[in-house]
Amino acid sequence: MLSIVLIGTGNVAQQFYEAMGNKNGIKIIQVIGRNKKKLTPFANCPETSTDFKHIYDADIYIIAVNDDSINTVSQHFTNKSGLVVHTSGSMPLSVLADSVRRGVFYPLQTISKERRIDFSEVPICIEAESSEDYELLRELANTISDQVQTMTSEQRKSVHLAAVFVNNFTNHLYHIGNEICDEAGVPFKILNPLILETAKKATQDNILNAQTGPAVRNDKLTMKKHLALLNNKDYRDIYSVLSNSIRKTHEKKL
Ligand SMILES: NC(=O)c1ccc[n+]([C@@H]2O[C@H](COP(=O)([O-])OP(=O)(O)OC[C@H]3O[C@@H](n4cnc5c(N)ncnc54)[C@H](OP(=O)(O)O)[C@@H]3O)[C@@H](O)[C@H]2O)c1
Repeated sequence: MLSIVLIGTGNVAQQFYEAMGNKNGIKIIQVIGRNKKKLTPFANCPETSTDFKHIYDADIYIIAVNDDSINTVSQHFTNKSGLVVHTSGSMPLSVLADSVRRGVFYPLQTISKERRIDFSEVPICIEAESSEDYELLRELANTISDQVQTMTSEQRKSVHLAAVFVNNFTNHLYHIGNEICDEAGVPFKILNPLILETAKKATQDNILNAQTGPAVRNDKLTMKKHLALLNNKDYRDIYSVLSNSIRKTHEKKL
């Protein structure tokens, strides 16, 4: 039985709690958070606490806090013998206090408190400093996911950057599209089939060949009309930067 202490009460902590809480071979023995109210969703855990000085002994400590606070929080574990991991894509393993057994347990997915995640299809990218710790993390990852991946800190940094492009930036573009539809009095939902087909193409076909639209065709008049329709300067800049990038990419290809 692997004993786990979860640190943090946000998106990742809550979803890991849900996913690991009912798995055979894992027991979450304590959840620690700095805000008492935010511990409410973990009320059926044997112990919840705001006291970072009284942390239970466990096999694995999962630090699921803001990237900038990982190092500070990891300093609370310097007298512990268990494995201490963080869950960040962009932070190296070395951000953890160097006197602890260190590892990384990064779920490659967009995770919100409100939306239940099926972790079985989510790649869990793991890293450790010894083969013994690696095996321990693999055992934990295998209980929730069928997609366990070994990844160095350098590789994870690049994967995280790619994830920002395919998820964070795309989501912002959906937001802009939503605003444009609102202004025109057309429901954004009308674009749902297009959004889904784009995602399907990106996961199933050659991405470069899948590109369509005025930029790849170099339809200058259409692009000029689109720019004239946009009142927001940031959106005009985004339109121009992306259109130029598409154009250059496809000129290179030809
Ligand atoms: N969400 C995702 O899509 C996702 C996906 C993969 C990996 N990750 C990684 O998972 C980690 C957590 O992300 P999240 O989305 O769960 O963040 P979040 O929802 O913002 O939660 C962050 C948690 O950290 C706590 N915290 C922040 N600074 C702290 C400090 N100095 N001391 C103690 N607790 C502190 C917050 O407490 P308060 O509520 O009191 O502020 C909160 O419980 C990050 O490293 C992130 O990169 C996130």
